[in-house]
Amino acid sequence: MQSPIPFEISRRDLLISSAATIAITGVSADRTAAQSTTNESPPRSEVSFKVNGESRTLNIDNRTTLLDALREHLHLTGTKKGCDHGQCGACTVIVDGRRINSCLSLALMHEGDEITTIEGLGQPGNLHPMQAAFVQHDGFQCGYCTSGQICSSVAVIEEIKANIPSHVTSDLAAQAKITPAEIRERMSGNICRCGAYSNILDAISEVAGIKA
Ligand code: FES
Ligand code: FES
Repeated sequence: MQSPIPFEISRRDLLISSAATIAITGVSADRTAAQSTTNESPPRSEVSFKVNGESRTLNIDNRTTLLDALREHLHLTGTKKGCDHGQCGACTVIVDGRRINSCLSLALMHEGDEITTIEGLGQPGNLHPMQAAFVQHDGFQCGYCTSGQICSSVAVIEEIKANIPSHVTSDLAAQAKITPAEIRERMSGNICRCGAYSNILDAISEVAGIKA
């Protein structure tokens, strides 16, 4: 059996090594202190837009998304944060008549825009027809995706009426028709983890005046 490797360190070596460690730590602490004194706070800007018909002005960190501006600054928490990556549609709001994923858009990009959230579509006792249809057709279970689904649904009907084609529009020269296939395709960016899809289709079809 081999004898252990001899390990010897003199008191002098130990002192030299400790002094070096302290010197390195000191340099790095100095650097951190220098950095923190030169670090400026993130730039902020003012933005004004209309939300649900009301003029709002915010002074926010330039990096604030529209979703966070609505939820954290204006306390309109009906719009939900699902993935925060543009993949689930829970954060859908209507901006100047078109639906967008508010998690993918900086609030500062919306100077002068008109933004409609679920709170602006209707309220208890005075529901938007799409909200009423979702209730009537059981178009939700947990409800987390529902505000995004409803905002998307309202905009989808307007998109088709405005003759904006989708991947399933067969005749681009003709007026687009509201069909179950068109609705399914256009709503495909709104994920429902509870799987309420068939009831959502029923609700949208009823408002659009077609058979699901
Ligand atoms: Fe915006 Fe999921 S939270 S798409
Ligand atoms: Fe639960 Fe759609 S109702 S995720």
